[in-house]
Amino acid sequence: ASASEEKDIVIIGGGVAGYVAAIKAGQEGMKVTCIEKRGTLGGTCLNVGCIPSKSLLNNSHLYHQILHDSKHRGIEVGEVKLNLATFMKAKDSAVTSLTKGVEYLLKKNGVEYLKGEGSFASENDIKVSLNDGGETTVRGKNIIIATGSEATPFPGLEIDEKRVITSTSAIALEKIPETMVVIGGGIIGLEMASVWSRLGTKVTVVEFLDQIGGPGMDTEIAKATQKILKKQGMDFKLKTKVVSGDKSGDKVKLEVDAAQGGKSETMSADVVLVAIGRRPYTKGLGLENIGMELDERGRVIIDSEYRTKVPHIRCIGDVTFGPMLAHKAEEEAVAVVEHIKKGFGHVNYGCIPSVMYTYPEVAWVGQNEQDLKSKKIPYRTGSFPFSANSRAKTNLDTEGLVKMLADPETDRLLGVHIIGPNAGEMIAEGTLALEYGASTEDIARTCHAHPTLAEAFKEAAMATNAKAIHI
Ligand code: FAD
Ligand code: NAI
Repeated sequence: ASASEEKDIVIIGGGVAGYVAAIKAGQEGMKVTCIEKRGTLGGTCLNVGCIPSKSLLNNSHLYHQILHDSKHRGIEVGEVKLNLATFMKAKDSAVTSLTKGVEYLLKKNGVEYLKGEGSFASENDIKVSLNDGGETTVRGKNIIIATGSEATPFPGLEIDEKRVITSTSAIALEKIPETMVVIGGGIIGLEMASVWSRLGTKVTVVEFLDQIGGPGMDTEIAKATQKILKKQGMDFKLKTKVVSGDKSGDKVKLEVDAAQGGKSETMSADVVLVAIGRRPYTKGLGLENIGMELDERGRVIIDSEYRTKVPHIRCIGDVTFGPMLAHKAEEEAVAVVEHIKKGFGHVNYGCIPSVMYTYPEVAWVGQNEQDLKSKKIPYRTGSFPFSANSRAKTNLDTEGLVKMLADPETDRLLGVHIIGPNAGEMIAEGTLALEYGASTEDIARTCHAHPTLAEAFKEAAMATNAKAIHI
């Protein structure tokens, strides 16, 4: 490519990190190319992650609720049937309209979108093997690596995406399995276990640690969550490590071992979902051509301005440090473009919410109780159960609680942990409060509409700094 064709930014990867950076750069009047090999934009999140999984979670909850939670509300229905093909089509249509929407946004913001695989030919030149055949090269003053992540395979049990599957097939099974073992009780494991268990599969979750929810979930909330999910029909084996697998027979067999005092045994299932985490994806990127090294977990190493060791090559999203979350990738995408364009940009990593879209939802932001304890940070806590909230009562949906952690001296909010209906929406209020350095008294003295679930949020703040009214 000639110098005149040089772009201000070339972005490799059109996931949330890449496409948001492309739009933002376009808005800033920069010349941008975004390279994506999948054939559609939106990456893991839109194609095989956040979006399809939430469609299945929403609709499987509806199905489960019609079956098991309608009669006592005075709603009697006739025969309820699940049409799995239509159920999957509803998911596909959400995915297609959103990925097309992103393509439109790139166009609208003047971004050049190349469908193909990008790899470094030099520190400024990216060779693109086009999906439609052929090759081209784009040159960028700045390059952003946003190539995302992939499921971590389980050593010794080959993934065939039929009987031993990752989340990518767990959102697209054509038949409801009779039995499923989920390896890993983190967020993917529990969301997918919820979907299939609601549709009738007998699901057992095997988790290495002594709590479910993956890293970050408050222990008290994790225990409450496990109890509720168990009541819904899910089985759990905690402190248990899957050590090997065998899929030569009719069923997939797993040897599990006592990780911390658990029992050794053989388990079997029709389908095994491997959900033991995700790892950065840099295959085919040609990092070796520019002498770029990765850390011990395969992440691209960056500084606080997202610069790799080659200053004009930056990196954001799942492929580098931090939680593997779409909204984290999105924040970084805006910040990295601001760094390039204006010399400064900012993401508050202490204030990134997490949501697990089970039923009820689990959501949190800031620090959890076990972290504060282990760091010897003093705190006080207050909580409010949904069973004492009027809206939850009218909804006949009273499981869960809001828990707050605050500095005992200054009353500044340190963390919010919620399990309950709409927790994923309610956590936005906690995130805003944390971002603005609110005290729990600030929250407690803010008027909340009645009757809303959000009143439980206010009452938890009241419980933290003084007394809740309704309990
Ligand atoms: P990705 O979305 O992985 O995008 C990277 C893109 O780069 C891919 O499309 C890939 O094809 C492309 N690419 C890679 N190499 C090249 C190359 N050399 N050339 C061209 N293109 C390339 N997060 C949430 O916040 N909320 C959720 O509810 C949620 N649910 C999830 C559910 C599941 C089942 C999974 C698996 C993940 C979920 N996540 C969720 C995580 C979320 O999907 C990721 O954090 C997010 O997609 C990261 O965005 P990214 O752009 O960094 O990477
Ligand atoms: P995770 O890291 O959340 O959980 C993996 C779990 O597997 C851990 O609890 C770990 O202890 C356990 N484990 C590991 N090896 C094991 C073994 N051999 N036997 C038994 N248990 C074992 O990873 P997960 O659930 O795969 O998700 C990956 C990423 O995707 C997460 O980091 C999450 O941020 C993101 N994601 C986010 C969602 C959301 O925001 N709602 C939804 C789905 C995924």
